Amino acid sequence: MQLQLISIVLILHCMEYTNCQHHGSRHRLHKQGSGVSSQGCQGGCQTCSVYNGCLTCKPKLFIHFIHDGMRQIGVCLASCPNGFYGTRSPDRNDCIKCGSECDSCFNRNFCLRCRAGSYLHKGKCMESCPDGLMPSDTKKECVPACPADCDSCQNSDTCTRCAPGHFLLHGQCHHVCPDEFEPNDSMECIPTVHCEVGEWSEWGPCSRSGKTCGFKWGEETRTRKVLQNPSPMGSPCPATSETRECLVKRRRCKPKGQRRGEKKKRFNLQEKENAESRRERKREREKETINLEDSESRNKTEHRRRRDQSRDAGTV
Ligand SMILES: *[C@@H]1O[C@H](CO)[C@@H](O)[C@H](O)[C@H]1NC(C)=O
Ligand SMILES: *[C@@H]1O[C@H](CO)[C@@H](O)[C@H](O)[C@H]1NC(C)=O
Repeated sequence: MQLQLISIVLILHCMEYTNCQHHGSRHRLHKQGSGVSSQGCQGGCQTCSVYNGCLTCKPKLFIHFIHDGMRQIGVCLASCPNGFYGTRSPDRNDCIKCGSECDSCFNRNFCLRCRAGSYLHKGKCMESCPDGLMPSDTKKECVPACPADCDSCQNSDTCTRCAPGHFLLHGQCHHVCPDEFEPNDSMECIPTVHCEVGEWSEWGPCSRSGKTCGFKWGEETRTRKVLQNPSPMGSPCPATSETRECLVKRRRCKPKGQRRGEKKKRFNLQEKENAESRRERKREREKETINLEDSESRNKTEHRRRRDQSRDAGTV
């Protein structure tokens, strides 16, 4: 429509020129099919006629013909309009119509955009798309038919976004992530990470209530480090510290007599107000030792009993 207007304007321009006009009336031009001029043509024309507009174009421009009823009006353009492709030859550059289903093309064989109702596939406009592809009415193109439960895909094998309620893994959509995978916040399956711990350390010193003498049975502890924290669904970390009973053979607290002697010496050096609290503490320590010895002997019996039991079990 616009082109038609332009060409009409061009023709009107042309008609104003005496060069064009002196060849005679429009009627006569039409009849004779001549009226060619090389002077005063507008809009890139090299030669023109009153009735048919441009007949040839200036170098590099394409001649494009607009059909207006029976009339064909030539215009010269730097590039061909939509629905036409340009061909160049030494004497003229033409605009040639794209295929009937094609809105815009690169050449006779390669469409760039199809008309409504047909779909572009490899430069051709098709009424239906080949296997594995689906027509897209918005793009007028054949687009990959996405895998099941897929909202958008790269091709018919590779999903890039799953439908709601599905999780993406390796281009496929899953109702639940497969074993050893778990969903993340963007609904993709990511590998489940399990806790990993290092080797146990050596056992610590055998002690009881923070002391390493004055008892036979104590406890010793060993630890290990977490090397890899688990993902939310990964197996949790096992205990990183372990305690067991232990037997102290050699470490004894100093004999009571010796200790008392020491105490006495030191006692003399202490100030009086300390005396009471020291005596208090000593009483407590003695009580503790008694308890300790009590439970030690009890444990010894227990231990012996257990040993006998297991020996019995062994012989049965
Ligand atoms: C989910 O996992 C994918 C794939 O590893 C990753 O690209 C994405 O950023 C992850 N999203 C979140 C929220 O962590
Ligand atoms: C002795 O056994 C009791 C319970 O039977 C326990 O609480 C205590 O820690 C044990 N003592 C030692 C030195 O193993």
